Amino acid sequence: MQGREFQTSPRLAIAGIKVEIEGVTQARVSDTRVNVTFVDFAGKRVRLPGRVGQSLTELAADHKLDMLEAPCNGGGTPSAVYHKKQDFWEPKFGQGTMCHGCHVIVPQDKWAAMPAVDGHEEERLEDYPFPEDLAVTSRMGCQIKLTKDMDGMVCYVPDNPVYESF
Ligand code: FES
Repeated sequence: MQGREFQTSPRLAIAGIKVEIEGVTQARVSDTRVNVTFVDFAGKRVRLPGRVGQSLTELAADHKLDMLEAPCNGGGTPSAVYHKKQDFWEPKFGQGTMCHGCHVIVPQDKWAAMPAVDGHEEERLEDYPFPEDLAVTSRMGCQIKLTKDMDGMVCYVPDNPVYESF
């Protein structure tokens, strides 16, 4: 993230008050904004404004975009998940990615900006139930944390498996 020199607001400047802290820079909204377009299997396109550091699934959830789900929430985050149909809590111990609901195909021209695939994510891609939907740039969306280099990317969301509500 690129910061800018801290500037005193016009009101403070008029009042003769100058607030500066040496070495401190202030980020602007535009420094943290990352626009991502999602395209689903039916051709529906949605462009969403995201933030640096947010995952693709968090971005989708913030905007209630149902084409990209995160049933296991990336793994490791919840200490337990509730299975509504069976009415029980399943303990989770940070196993990493555990579902296939967040599969996305990222654009090849943004591949260099992507974080490395870890072992858990590699397993999810290997046991993905619809291998015909996989591409060389397939990723699990919960593992993609947005960076400024990803601004403007277009991600394809295949018809991922439907999970019961966790
Ligand atoms: S949300 Fe389960 S693997 Fe991404």
